[in-house]
Amino acid sequence: MLRIACLFLLLCASASTYADGRNDAAAVVPQPRSVRPSTGAFALNGATQIYAADASARATAQMFADWLGETQGLNLPIRDGKPERAQRNVLWFETTKARPGIAAEAYRLVADADRIHISGADAGLFYGMQTLMQLLPVTKQAAPTVAAIDIDDAPRFAWRGLHLDVGRHFFPIAFVKKYLDLMAQYKLNTFHWHLTEDQGWRIEIKKYPRLTEVGAKRRETVVEHKVDPYVGDGIAYGPLYYTQDQVREIVAYAAARHITVIPEIELPGHAQAALAAYPQFACTPGPFEVWTNWGVSENIFCPKEETFAFLDDVLGEVAALFPAPYIHIGGDEAPKDAWKKSAFVQDLIRREKLKNEDELQSWFIRRVEKIAHAKGKRIIGWDEILEGGLAPDATVMSWRGEKGGFAAAKQGHDVVMSPTGYCYLDYAQGPVESETFAFNGYLPLQNVYAYDPLPPALSARERSHILGVQGNAWSEHMPNAETAEYAVFPRALAIAEIGWSEQSSRDYADFERRLASQYPRLDRAGIRYRIPEPQGFGDVLQIDQPHYRLQLAAPMPGAAIYYTLDGSLPDPRYSPRYAGPVDVDLPLEQKRQLRTLVVATDGRRSGVYNASLWNRGLKPAIAAAGKSAGATYAYYEGRFPTLLEFENTVTQRKPGAQGETRAFDLKEFAGKKEYGLDFDGEFTAASDGIYRFVVRADDAVSLAIDGETVVRNEDYEQPRSVLVPLQHGVHRLRIGYVQRGGGADLHLQWAPPGGGLRELKAEELKH
Ligand code: ACM
Repeated sequence: MLRIACLFLLLCASASTYADGRNDAAAVVPQPRSVRPSTGAFALNGATQIYAADASARATAQMFADWLGETQGLNLPIRDGKPERAQRNVLWFETTKARPGIAAEAYRLVADADRIHISGADAGLFYGMQTLMQLLPVTKQAAPTVAAIDIDDAPRFAWRGLHLDVGRHFFPIAFVKKYLDLMAQYKLNTFHWHLTEDQGWRIEIKKYPRLTEVGAKRRETVVEHKVDPYVGDGIAYGPLYYTQDQVREIVAYAAARHITVIPEIELPGHAQAALAAYPQFACTPGPFEVWTNWGVSENIFCPKEETFAFLDDVLGEVAALFPAPYIHIGGDEAPKDAWKKSAFVQDLIRREKLKNEDELQSWFIRRVEKIAHAKGKRIIGWDEILEGGLAPDATVMSWRGEKGGFAAAKQGHDVVMSPTGYCYLDYAQGPVESETFAFNGYLPLQNVYAYDPLPPALSARERSHILGVQGNAWSEHMPNAETAEYAVFPRALAIAEIGWSEQSSRDYADFERRLASQYPRLDRAGIRYRIPEPQGFGDVLQIDQPHYRLQLAAPMPGAAIYYTLDGSLPDPRYSPRYAGPVDVDLPLEQKRQLRTLVVATDGRRSGVYNASLWNRGLKPAIAAAGKSAGATYAYYEGRFPTLLEFENTVTQRKPGAQGETRAFDLKEFAGKKEYGLDFDGEFTAASDGIYRFVVRADDAVSLAIDGETVVRNEDYEQPRSVLVPLQHGVHRLRIGYVQRGGGADLHLQWAPPGGGLRELKAEELKH
């Protein structure tokens, strides 16, 4: 056999460029439509005159003047009107007439040595001001300058959203304002406020005080991921909610930043907190408690007349508080068990000549749409509202992938794209074992950035229905501002760029470069974002390399990198600080672990990022034996407390059932409570190289490639990522899955060398 060895690690070197205080004309996020740098620079000083002719321009100019005062200590007054033609040292904000559609958000910014002129309609002028802020240094300078430039800019999409779940954990008004400030900074214009959940009702409704008296607090909260078996923390949470005055304050604060606030009132599911307060709107008598666990509660609203009267009242108060044209009515994850068991509901299904509970859900949503219409609002809902037929005027938020969104667009409905695989900002940003906070899923910054809401396959008509994109921040595992900021930033900047910038202008390497100069701006805003890995991270493959020259680059200005090569935790007190290339000897088949810690200039530390340096042979391909598509499964009934016990059982016992499967979705085993499954199949590696596998499941999962167990994971819903070097050809894959009650969930993804991560489907295997 050809002696092929490989050395792979999770980082590579690339010289970094920062806008460390100097004006980097192109370091704007999101990337503007057209940027033409010119020669010369405009210098701001105490004699600079700011002009604004009308109220809207003055409001924007004042925000800029305040910012300039805070960052540069330059306090400049705003003058009414416009400057003389020959006047120099002028900064002029000019409101122009809005053209229909997104042109209202367009602007032009021209800077030369004599003047800066920003023109645009209302929101456009505000965005021009945001761009100007990014062209200026964020730290105090003796003579702040803006390099001469001509920017002509407009957004790609009208809906550029960021969501915040305040149901699972509550976020105070001050945090919401900070969130809105950051949204405005990056030209995000829609704040989706997820106000009600099984675990908490967070908005005051005058007619139903128990919604917050009872629904805004819970007895305790499940500990992290310990939902099954359940472990509670024993600590009462709440009451925590927003008064109507506070809601008005937030709506006004957002409006001043050209942000529309979309309230979400979840129905018919995710309603257990409401039912704890008013059990009469459920199908069973209750009592219910505000849920202390994570997941999907079976206690949902019952389609009774009194429930609709209640929803009419609630939506009436909500409609009066929020000027947005939409109310988000949820619609997701509504288990139908309670409806199936209810004689009243079954009778209603017959009376209304509905086929089943899905059609009843659709009937429910249509009634709610009528209520919303009567209050002058349209509804938007998660993509489950497609099931059983869409309400006539509903807009769909596509989260379970993109399929629902495309189907709705085909039916002529408007759509906001927010698929989990790109837009779920609660998912882990790196291998979970390296993360400071561990969330579900796996969604590094680069994967978010890769998203295009308008794939070429859509027709022009369908494309016109895609309103835009939204990043979602679910708060089960974000108990406080610090964890939320860590989850949302910097990925929200990638969402902002997807929403604003032309697809043809988007480039990840360029985004990373511009991002480096955004970190000081996030620092200034006090955002505790995730400190990234050293720049240029990626899986690097070295063939036949007993010596490796390790090169790292700090991800942000002034950051220090500490590292170890002996498996120990990097620590600034004992570990070497990276100061230049490091030579590593690595004989064939030997492995070393590289661990890095990045410390920012303010002392904040990153998580410990791990990489394997492994001078290792590729796993040889096996002789293909599989003839049929799909994998086989062997089913073992019983409770397996550990994966090892399950693996022993597989070697010693005959399975209770066997068969073949085209999907790892566990649908065939629905209703079974305690079991283990052994999936087995062959897959084909198209080329030599390093393959990444990511596996995630409740309750426990193992993955074996060619007989070697590469993942053994007992952590509920925590993804595990592993790199496996493979020779091209056929290889054998086995998955061990253990179910111990509760939800049943299994996901397998893989990425070939140099490629993106995608689902590896059972139907792609052979057996
Ligand atoms: C959702 O993530 N359940 C919309």
